[in-house]
Amino acid sequence: MGTWVAPGRVNIIGEHTDYTGGYVLPIAVPLVMRCTAVARADGRVRAVSRQRPGEPALAEVSGLVAQRALLPGWSRYPLGVVAEFVRRGIRIPGIDLELDGEVPIGAGLSSSAALSCAVAVALRDMFAPGLSDRVVIDIARGAENDYVGAPTGLLDQSAAMLCTAGHALLLDMRSLTADATTLCTGAYEQIPFDLSRFGLELMVIDTGQPHELVDGRYARRREQCAAAGRALGVATLRDIESVADTDRIAEGILRRRARHVVAENARVLAVAETMRAGNDPRGIGPILTEGHISLRDDFEVSTPGLDIAVDAALAAGAYGARMVGGGFGGSVIALVDRGHVELVTESVRRHFTGAALPDPRTFLVVPAAGAHRIG
Ligand code: GLA
Repeated sequence: MGTWVAPGRVNIIGEHTDYTGGYVLPIAVPLVMRCTAVARADGRVRAVSRQRPGEPALAEVSGLVAQRALLPGWSRYPLGVVAEFVRRGIRIPGIDLELDGEVPIGAGLSSSAALSCAVAVALRDMFAPGLSDRVVIDIARGAENDYVGAPTGLLDQSAAMLCTAGHALLLDMRSLTADATTLCTGAYEQIPFDLSRFGLELMVIDTGQPHELVDGRYARRREQCAAAGRALGVATLRDIESVADTDRIAEGILRRRARHVVAENARVLAVAETMRAGNDPRGIGPILTEGHISLRDDFEVSTPGLDIAVDAALAAGAYGARMVGGGFGGSVIALVDRGHVELVTESVRRHFTGAALPDPRTFLVVPAAGAHRIG
């Protein structure tokens, strides 16, 4: 028996780059999903969630795939992880999973990867202690992609597993997407991310408009990126380094999608370089805002609520602001002077009221630790 946690994340920059082998720069946030696990010997798995009282799930370990459609929607994340262990030939004699946590669901902070990773590290410690982080990341991805049916990339699971307190994680997705079972050298770098030293705060503005990755719009962006790569004659858009090269794509939508991805990779490297050099992080503000404009205009995954939050934060003096995660709802991050947090909060509230939108939730985050055992 034990208890494990895995965090949600905000991606500082590098959105919709992971599934084309690009760069990302997430931090883990100090909000976690918790999994208390107890082994059982009867070949069954039971999952209950504090957030879903009255929706327990019970299934045979050996029948998880067949029983999938009968299980409550929320439980497919934890049970998908169990199914992935089984698929890899790891014997699970039976398990009770009690889940709880404070990562807001649908806020674009990756509550689902936090949940999957908390379960995956629990099962690793209990039944397969030799598994590498790389494989655990892939197990959590498999649960989400194959069992739940959300065609996400590897950003969220990697952030939940590999982030460390005080750092942003610069991750080269090309080295992760290879068939490696361990992480290649150079796959990632922990970059100090200390905003408080400069009197700055990172604010999250949760618009309250839930974002969903299973409704087809996210999948369509993936397909368009793959098609853009084909139009340019490369395996993935990561192989394109100059934004000017994307002009060669005849079709307007594909050209804009590619322009976002290629420019976004460059933005990740620019932000990483500023932080690595220990320069004033105010310098990354305009790059974050540029990233938002690109997601809004070229990648078309923003919403009026996200745009209003960004504009309101900037109008009140934020150095930069952008939507985070897959888009179509969720949250915005804003880089703000410590003394201006209230002003920005009020500005966002006022703009939301003006647009007849419900009050957004705002809070501050610092880079926190990745998945680990707590008891
Ligand atoms: C979601 C997906 C990630 C990534 C982001 C966009 O969070 O789960 O894999 O593609 O969207 O950067």
